[in-house]
Amino acid sequence: MDEEFVKILGIESSCDDTGAAVLNNHTLLSNIIAGQQVHKEYGGVVPELASRAHQQNIVPVVDVALNKAGIDKSDLHAIAFTKGPGLMGSLLVGGTFAKSMALALGIPLIEVNHMQGHILAHFIKTEGEPYNPPRFPFLCLTVSGGHTQIVLVEDYLKMQVLGQTLDDAAGEAFDKAAKIMGLPYPGGPLVDKLAREGDRSRFQFPAPHAPGLNFSFSGLKTSFLYLVRDETEKDNLFVSKFTADLCASFQHCVIGVLMEKLRMASRQTGIKEIAIAGGVSANSALRQTLKEEAKNMGWNIYIPKMEFCTDNAAMIAITCYYKYQKKEFAGASSVPSARYEF
Ligand code: KG4
Ligand code: ZN
Repeated sequence: MDEEFVKILGIESSCDDTGAAVLNNHTLLSNIIAGQQVHKEYGGVVPELASRAHQQNIVPVVDVALNKAGIDKSDLHAIAFTKGPGLMGSLLVGGTFAKSMALALGIPLIEVNHMQGHILAHFIKTEGEPYNPPRFPFLCLTVSGGHTQIVLVEDYLKMQVLGQTLDDAAGEAFDKAAKIMGLPYPGGPLVDKLAREGDRSRFQFPAPHAPGLNFSFSGLKTSFLYLVRDETEKDNLFVSKFTADLCASFQHCVIGVLMEKLRMASRQTGIKEIAIAGGVSANSALRQTLKEEAKNMGWNIYIPKMEFCTDNAAMIAITCYYKYQKKEFAGASSVPSARYEF
């Protein structure tokens, strides 16, 4: 095997997407993701159904990833899996699969923190595209369905959480607002789309307060709920008449809070290299606002490609690549951890 070109298989199964990706050093060879439609009718992810769907998907997803990468499993140097955080049953499927495959092939097994993966997704190289990864040290606003964090990234594997949500995550807030309006799960992408046609100043919500660089979104969600409830009592067509304005106003408030804390973190640390990551970083208004903010604040910004915003296995494989260099291998006793922190 040629050690100059490290081939990595990454497996992601922390929530409701089964992913497998192959990297050759930093360069992406394949990135396959199988979503799960089964949760749609429940308005959220049902953990037991998610783990069963992962069991059905994992073998074909890994097969397709290897085929698309044009390599055989015997060419692999290491296999990585998401250790956590995530749903225990879902994590177990990816973790057990990765462990068995690494054991069978006699190659290292590497555990990856999902949130660290979201951040390191910025370092994935795509053939034929410009490669401008963030420079250390940088700040990363990591916004997903389960987390909202501002992370100081000093090196690939040296990260420190400076602030995080004390209750709901930003993505969760989007999903809950959507649910209140009767929109399907996951609500974030739909709120984003509908908000484009709406008036963001039609409805005002009290700005959430949390100490320092921390966040809090549960109060905002409650005031959104009360507004919809009270106005629907007066006019039961309220939501359908004002869906776009509700989406735009809610989204505007969330983005306002995220930006305020990011500015604060930049001022406190003196760091002007700013990245975003996680599912909510796919939000078009957040991406646009960050560009405007960059001009005012003198920031160099890093916005991930859409395919690396939401959950994917390429981010697990790139994190594995850096851990492989440091020989941070997991033993046979490695098990997933639903609340794994870094
Ligand atoms: O990172 P991710 O795929 O999974 C977790 O690790 O949680 O993030 C999923 C979250 C969901 O809450 C989803 O509604 C939100 O990201 N999301 C968005 C958008 N796309 C996905 N939120 C707002 N606007 C979007 N365009
Ligand atoms: Zn995620």
